[in-house]
Amino acid sequence: MEHYFIDNKNLKSNIKKNTVIINNLEFTFFTDNGLFSKRGLDYGTKVLLENFDFGEKRSFLDVGCGCGPIGIFIAKYSTNNIVDMIDINQKAVDLCKKSIEYNKLSNISVFKSNGYENVKKKYDGIVINPPIHAGKKVVYDIIKNAINYLNENGEVWIVIRKDQGAKSLIEDMKDIYNFQIIKRDNGFYIIKSTI
Ligand SMILES: C[S@@+](CC[C@H](N)C(=O)[O-])C[C@H]1O[C@@H](n2cnc3c(N)ncnc32)[C@H](O)[C@@H]1O
Repeated sequence: MEHYFIDNKNLKSNIKKNTVIINNLEFTFFTDNGLFSKRGLDYGTKVLLENFDFGEKRSFLDVGCGCGPIGIFIAKYSTNNIVDMIDINQKAVDLCKKSIEYNKLSNISVFKSNGYENVKKKYDGIVINPPIHAGKKVVYDIIKNAINYLNENGEVWIVIRKDQGAKSLIEDMKDIYNFQIIKRDNGFYIIKSTI
């Protein structure tokens, strides 16, 4: 089985336009074969966006952006929000560029990065729908290292399923973060993490 985080150039492209409404905000993002949520907005991502609290946060990093629904939503929510999106997969990065252009957003950019290797800034909010299929080490590295890219009073928001290790993640990282479970929905946990 091919994983969505492996850039498979032989896969036939089938770009689809998805327009969704979350909390009265309409936005469009493109999906394609070989990428996570190729059939449209992932349920866990939807629950995350529905429950995301912008608070005083203004700068955001969407880690493992895939087709970009999280970053696009945040950028569209307010032009005062500044958003970076990163993904290891160049195809995801290219498709996000198309979605940014389509939504006519100038407060968001996307670039390729394996973990945080190309990230140079700090952010008020880091949002992660982790690549479970990449394995526990990758997931844990992404979540643990987020701390190094957070502004003071910054928050890390995570969506993870209970059966994909939500509870053990909270237990394993309790010395790093204070966790608050914001929402439980159909096995998905929306977790806010602060330092
Ligand atoms: C579960 S998907 C989430 C996609 C999108 N954020 C969403 O909610 O629809 C995880 C994403 O992480 C990316 N990814 C996997 N390993 C990564 C790594 N080491 N660094 C950055 N991104 C990675 C995958 O390519 C994939 O797009």
